[in-house]
Amino acid sequence: MSPHAFDRLCGLIHRHSRIHLGPNKVTLLTSRLGKRRRELGLQDWEDYVAWVESHSEEEVEVLIDLVSTNHTHFFREAIHFEILKSELLDKLLSLSPTARRGLRCWSAGCSSGEEPFTLAIVLAEYMQQKQPDLRWQIDATDISNRALEAAQRAIYETHRLGLPDPSLLKKYFRKGSGPYEGYSKVKPELAEKVQFQRLNLFEQQYKVALPQHIVFCRNVLIYFETESQVQLVRRLHDLIEPGGYLIVGHSDSLMRIKHPFVSLGNGVYQRAQ
Ligand SMILES: C[S@@+](CC[C@H](N)C(=O)[O-])C[C@H]1O[C@@H](n2cnc3c(N)ncnc32)[C@H](O)[C@@H]1O
Repeated sequence: MSPHAFDRLCGLIHRHSRIHLGPNKVTLLTSRLGKRRRELGLQDWEDYVAWVESHSEEEVEVLIDLVSTNHTHFFREAIHFEILKSELLDKLLSLSPTARRGLRCWSAGCSSGEEPFTLAIVLAEYMQQKQPDLRWQIDATDISNRALEAAQRAIYETHRLGLPDPSLLKKYFRKGSGPYEGYSKVKPELAEKVQFQRLNLFEQQYKVALPQHIVFCRNVLIYFETESQVQLVRRLHDLIEPGGYLIVGHSDSLMRIKHPFVSLGNGVYQRAQ
């Protein structure tokens, strides 16, 4: 890939997603996009860039799908779910009348669904023990259509679920058989608590319920450059109810950027009351 084609591709990707690719990502782009370029019958990278630029939004979406990193797993950074059930939910529900009327959570950058379904399991367990009548819902959004398709299928390899308590498997998943041997599907009662939709975090208007009480935006900020991180964190701040929480991944540290949240440690941030 020529430096010129690489720069044009990076510009296109940034314009549509704000995903920032440094100069050392030539090999990554070449390997992720090579198959698509060949499928389209295009000889070189300049032709591919011209094709994406001149074709529909759909081809841009394919490009973003191929470029986005969707790595995730159930109970990733488990400390966040521990803090949620031991501290944050009790505090929120004692202080926020709107949360008591209906708790709203958002997994922003949900990838293939493991994060919002983990959140759903933790909330379901908490509500069963402490607030059986409380209404709650989870919005789960991502820019990647491919990741969202997997999320909506809600089928995962059983040995990779890594559930902290084996009883959760029977309670929240149906084990597959035949061609689905070795896989488990999230039960509909849990799946219906999570609404998936495609959402670019830099689009003008978010179609999620507002205000939010708890927003998970983990391992997403690292893909953006500082200016975009600042913009996104401010925007998330404004849509979280005062007293509500933003949770970011350990690699997303907000230390380097100016933001209005109160830091509670471990990547947990609170909007001031
Ligand atoms: C590494 S995954 C993180 C998944 C999950 N939050 C976790 O921590 O396990 C990052 C996700 O961010 C999504 N993403 C990247 N840029 C985005 C954007 N502009 N808008 C929405 N999602 C985006 C990617 O598609 C990818 O699924």
